[in-house]
Amino acid sequence: MCGIVAIIGKENACEHVLNGLKKLEYRGYDSAGLAYISDKKMFNVRSVGKLNKLIKVISESKYSKLESSKIAIGHTRWATHGKVNIKNTHPIIYDKKIAVVHNGIIENYEKLKAKSFLKSYNFETTTDTEVIPVLIDSFVSNGKNFFESAKSTLKLMEGAYAFAAIHQDFPNEIFVARNTSPLVIGVGQDFKVVGSDSHSITQLVNQVIYLEDGDYAIIRDKEIEIYDKKDEITNRKIVNVNTDIGVVTKDGYRHFMEKEIFEQPNVLINTISSLLQENDKIDISTQKMGIKKNKSILISAAGTSFYAAVVAKYWIEKIANISVSVELASEYRYRNPSNIGFSSMIVISQSGESIDTLMAMRQAKKLNLKTTAIVNVEGSTIDREADYSIYTRVGPEIGVASTKSFTSQLTVLFLISIKLANENNSINNKDYKNFVRLIKTLPNSLSKCLKINSDIINIAQKIKNTSHTIFLGRGYLYPLALEGALKLKEISYIHAEGFAAGEMKHGPIALIEENLPVIMFLISDGLEDKSISNLQEAVSRGARTILIADKESIAKAKFVNFAIEIPEFEKKFVTTFSPILMAIPAQLLAYHVARERGTDVDQPRNLAKSVTVE
Ligand code: F6R
Repeated sequence: MCGIVAIIGKENACEHVLNGLKKLEYRGYDSAGLAYISDKKMFNVRSVGKLNKLIKVISESKYSKLESSKIAIGHTRWATHGKVNIKNTHPIIYDKKIAVVHNGIIENYEKLKAKSFLKSYNFETTTDTEVIPVLIDSFVSNGKNFFESAKSTLKLMEGAYAFAAIHQDFPNEIFVARNTSPLVIGVGQDFKVVGSDSHSITQLVNQVIYLEDGDYAIIRDKEIEIYDKKDEITNRKIVNVNTDIGVVTKDGYRHFMEKEIFEQPNVLINTISSLLQENDKIDISTQKMGIKKNKSILISAAGTSFYAAVVAKYWIEKIANISVSVELASEYRYRNPSNIGFSSMIVISQSGESIDTLMAMRQAKKLNLKTTAIVNVEGSTIDREADYSIYTRVGPEIGVASTKSFTSQLTVLFLISIKLANENNSINNKDYKNFVRLIKTLPNSLSKCLKINSDIINIAQKIKNTSHTIFLGRGYLYPLALEGALKLKEISYIHAEGFAAGEMKHGPIALIEENLPVIMFLISDGLEDKSISNLQEAVSRGARTILIADKESIAKAKFVNFAIEIPEFEKKFVTTFSPILMAIPAQLLAYHVARERGTDVDQPRNLAKSVTVE
């Protein structure tokens, strides 16, 4: 991880690389650098920290012929092997003549380093990446050209990776390779550009080629030669992509996360209108999804997308009476699962690149399940490999913490639930129409939910100095408790655990101590009294209680320290829609606590937006 940009054949190559890297910033990274060749000489500049720091370093020192170079590679690094320091920052340079930028992990790098033919080499970094330029050099020293050397290197590598390499003695070529980690080549007329995603290069090109697993290529300014894993020259499709959507800005918000929380009413309109036709039919094919009578549905995902899957299980089982299994992608991919009883798998992924989710989907394909991706990034690996894709259409999500993706994923999953229910007559046409009517009101309801912002700021100020928190929920709001806890811990670094309210007595209650904030999501679903009792038990042990709930539940739990009331929603359906409505206070609470604590909200420490390594 995390971002690669490379360019050949264009004036100001370094500047273009920096612009591309800027567009990959949202993925999260800890250091950045670039390398370029000028007059057959390799130069590089690297810095720990954000891109602005790299740009400052460039502007403060005189870098030789930086402007005139037409070949450059750049990288934003999210450390996997080796500490965050200048030496380990990419490009990793060997002997001032070979530069490599690399995402992913070379699993056998220790074995490769120990090869007898590399005995005379000194490794200067603690990265797995360094083995690439060293191997290339060893092959070049033995008389092979750059392409053959890079190819021979590739053949020795195991793991999931994408990389780009340049050599000062071969200044007209970039070598790239992909295995699992994404890589896209942009096709300009007299130049070529490479990026970790199409978004990073569409300011320069509107035609791209997505490399497939095992592909490698030698790229010159006017030509691209691509080889597949059998070493046969191959023609990959040239795809037209939307021209540059421009640099995404914060539009006056303090953080991208804040902007993305507040744009949810609008983006939900996009999600809904792209899938709901004028006649109220839902433009999703359950046949293409491979859903069959008497067969269960499997849903797999990671992180927040997984919590959306858990909500979907509750919805589909309740509304459509079809049994659903949810699987953490990182578990499913390795546990030799059975396909008995299943005909289809849905994977959910904002980025479309999460390696675990991709692998879970491949595993399902091996088991002959039809795969459907609910995905935001069109053209991503998961989108391209799924049998069928449904897009959330929320635009780029820049904040590392998923917000608008979650509510849009839930909306798509709800549409699937009622489509299934209508098809198998679990609900009649009247109920179906009613649900559709309510879905159309969701953007407006979310706007109302956003109005509780100032109440949440007030609570955030009260709990910002705590070290631990507990989130509770029951039924549809159990996955939301997990999501609320994830959101808080990842951006504020406060330890947060989510539990099903009914589980408190089975262990977690031991954690309650004086002043521990316990945050409960609650809705009048007929079981609210049970959850209120759970909350009382926490109060008796000194907890500070925060209730996020509907008016009726709040009236029953007057003893809590703070209560946040969600706006009114049609009474009969408020429970069903509660995970979407309550996502807003969960996100706002995490956001304001983190902001009050002064953390890097959009790029929290240690996290990356696209998790392309295990
Ligand atoms: C949490 C978050 C992550 C992602 C997870 C899956 O705020 O953003 O937990 O949800 O890494 O990512 P995608 O949906 O891109 O597969």
